[in-house]
Amino acid sequence: MSQLIDPHGRSIDYIRLSVTDRCDLRCFYCLPKGFKGFEEPEHWLSFDEIERVIRAFGALGTRRVRITGGEPLVRKNLPALAARLQSLPGIDDLSLSTNAVQLTRHAEDLYAGGIRRLNISLDSLDKKRFQEITGGKLEKVIDGLMAAKAAGFTPIKINMVVMKGINEDEVETMVDFCIKHDFTLRFIETMPMGTTGCDAVNHYVDLQTVRTKLKQRFDLVPGVMPGGGPARYLQVAGTDLRIGFITPISQHFCETCNRVRLSVDGTLYLCLGQDNKFELRPLLRNGISDDGLQEAIQHAITLKPERHEFNEKPSQVVRFMSVTGG
Ligand code: GTP
Ligand code: 5AD
Ligand code: SF4
Repeated sequence: MSQLIDPHGRSIDYIRLSVTDRCDLRCFYCLPKGFKGFEEPEHWLSFDEIERVIRAFGALGTRRVRITGGEPLVRKNLPALAARLQSLPGIDDLSLSTNAVQLTRHAEDLYAGGIRRLNISLDSLDKKRFQEITGGKLEKVIDGLMAAKAAGFTPIKINMVVMKGINEDEVETMVDFCIKHDFTLRFIETMPMGTTGCDAVNHYVDLQTVRTKLKQRFDLVPGVMPGGGPARYLQVAGTDLRIGFITPISQHFCETCNRVRLSVDGTLYLCLGQDNKFELRPLLRNGISDDGLQEAIQHAITLKPERHEFNEKPSQVVRFMSVTGG
């Protein structure tokens, strides 16, 4: 049982760890082309510092760690960090969210490092479109996905941000692709983060319309899926496919929130959709004790807000999604 209970009575047992704010893609809704405001390397938490913080969270009852970015595989020696986190007391679910561009090279080492669950962003199966959305090459991602499958990761979840006029017409193609390859599929509603996210909300799709459309072709029954996140699942009857709906805008899930985020510069963000934060780096670099670190984390949790206000204040969160990795 987590010792971290927030002011709204929620038990916090999931930390999303961003190991870099850089990325080898430029998804237009996440990070603007030509963006210059990346964190200075001397501010990046070292692997030793990250391990200390996650150890403290583990001691306070956190059991899930998801490694995110930016693109986490841009950080050198990530599999070695995974191996260190996997062996920490209390941590029993280590997972990774990636764009898969570099997965061919790293899949086996990541598996050996103890990661079992992978979530992979894939918004289009059309080469030209993929390039327009991300600036990158679809082939690399598909190769990365196949390498992940071959390495034994399970489950592999595909994250598709559904956007009007961009990829909404590919929803069924993606269902067929995921049935064929035995992946789980999650549809995500666009959130207004930074200026790019705010542009992207012009393409917002209420996932209720996607569900309605899919029901015309597929028999969808209630489904369950391991994981610590906010997706609600349906299963396509007669197949193994689970489809998750992540609906921060049309039906938010803040009342069941169980997580906080640590960014690469050692800032704890208490909510994806709010600015509430607590800086751990100065404490780590001024020689705080292990007990002091745990007390600081307990204090930070008292700052956790009740919910996001993406609908009421869509331009409120000025940091880009790439800072906290979703
Ligand atoms: P598992 O359920 O453990 O597989 O992971 P997850 O769904 O939490 O992780 P992932 O990194 O794949 O996130 C998928 C989407 O959910 C991303 O678009 C995230 O931004 C969104 N998401 C994850 N956590 C939160 C949250 O706390 N609040 C909001 N609003 N969105 C979230
Ligand atoms: N709204 C919703 N999801 C987003 N992601 C990145 N930016 C946004 C946004 N503005 C998704 C990515 C990835 C996940 C970790 O977060 O596509 O799959
Ligand atoms: Fe939790 Fe904030 Fe996400 Fe809501 S928006 S689920 S409160 S992190």
